[in-house]
Amino acid sequence: MIEPVYNPSPTRYDAGMIYRRAGRSGIQLPMLSLGLWHNFGSHQTFSKVREMAHYAFDRGIVHFDLANNYGPEYGTAEENFGRLMETSFRPYRDELFVSSKAGYDMWPGPYGNWGSRKYLMASLDQSLRRMKLDYVDLFYSHRYDPATPLEETLQALVDIVRGGKALYVGLSRYPLEAARFAFDYLAARDVPCLLFQDRYNLLDRTPVESGVLDLATAAGSGFIVFSPLAQGLLTNRYLNGIPADSRMAEDRTLHRDILDETMLRRLRGLDALAGERGQTLAEMSLSWLLRDERITSVIIGASSTAQIEDNLRALQRLDFSPEELTRIETLLQL
Ligand SMILES: NC(=O)c1ccc[n+]([C@@H]2O[C@H](COP(=O)([O-])OP(=O)(O)OC[C@H]3O[C@@H](n4cnc5c(N)ncnc54)[C@H](OP(=O)(O)O)[C@@H]3O)[C@@H](O)[C@H]2O)c1
Repeated sequence: MIEPVYNPSPTRYDAGMIYRRAGRSGIQLPMLSLGLWHNFGSHQTFSKVREMAHYAFDRGIVHFDLANNYGPEYGTAEENFGRLMETSFRPYRDELFVSSKAGYDMWPGPYGNWGSRKYLMASLDQSLRRMKLDYVDLFYSHRYDPATPLEETLQALVDIVRGGKALYVGLSRYPLEAARFAFDYLAARDVPCLLFQDRYNLLDRTPVESGVLDLATAAGSGFIVFSPLAQGLLTNRYLNGIPADSRMAEDRTLHRDILDETMLRRLRGLDALAGERGQTLAEMSLSWLLRDERITSVIIGASSTAQIEDNLRALQRLDFSPEELTRIETLLQL
């Protein structure tokens, strides 16, 4: 089949996207980034992958967040991204900011998981082959490995940059003290951490409570949020039951038991407040994160262009009154 030629929207940088600088770096990122963890692998049709990726790029979402094991099946989100590179994105490579990661189980045996130099180097080579790229813009250690000397993991990241296979490095989900050591180690080798990636949303404040958001900011790193919508919980998706095509219906990474009466009461309260602000619950949840200027970007997952469209509207209303902020906290205690 002959693929249609992709002509990106000429107004992609004038369509309302706002770019924020990642810490003390030269890189600006769109406040909304697109994550390919779910919905972009081999269980999805390529035409849908393409539709969502083009829709995002056409609206200034130039950052695509991947990892070796995104799919499902493992590797297939990167393969689909590689197909996009070959069929439409190649002329726009220098407009794109592409990240990948290694840290979770990827292939069998002792070298396909965690944080050894051997695993990180081999995994990045595989990711580049799948994505049809010469380099990634950002490569992350996907998680802290308590059994590998941290110096080994971090030196592998430094050497990956020196070898030209990544322009920047990042850390994902590191505990506070490991993060502190890592920021110092990387900075001392002139490969400072560009982004710290962690889960943060209205229902999960761990990066604030642990101090890692403050630490990253003080170290000059940007901070990028994953699961900003708590995998879809912080949207109108589950207010009236569990739709058959939803992530919760799969019961794989978002489990049904979280949706008890207390949670529903809270979500309905938040949804009503969002309505008063002229927003959907998804929009308000993203605005609430992005009102904090230390948050460089939020990585949204999406299963349709309509969801991306909705989420983009969050950027139109980032301000919250003190009363609204207090009401949010009260609603979450109910
Ligand atoms: N570093 C890490 O360890 C790590 C871990 C997890 C994720 N991540 C990254 O973060 C990205 C985002 O994570 P996530 O997918 O959990 O993010 P999320 O944005 O919290 O959840 C995405 C899901 O929410 C639903 N949704 C999104 N927008 C919606 C809207 N406007 N209205 C109604 N429902 C909406 C969709 O669910 P349905 O599919 O049900 O429609 C979508 O699949 C991942 O793709 C990945 O890049 C990183």
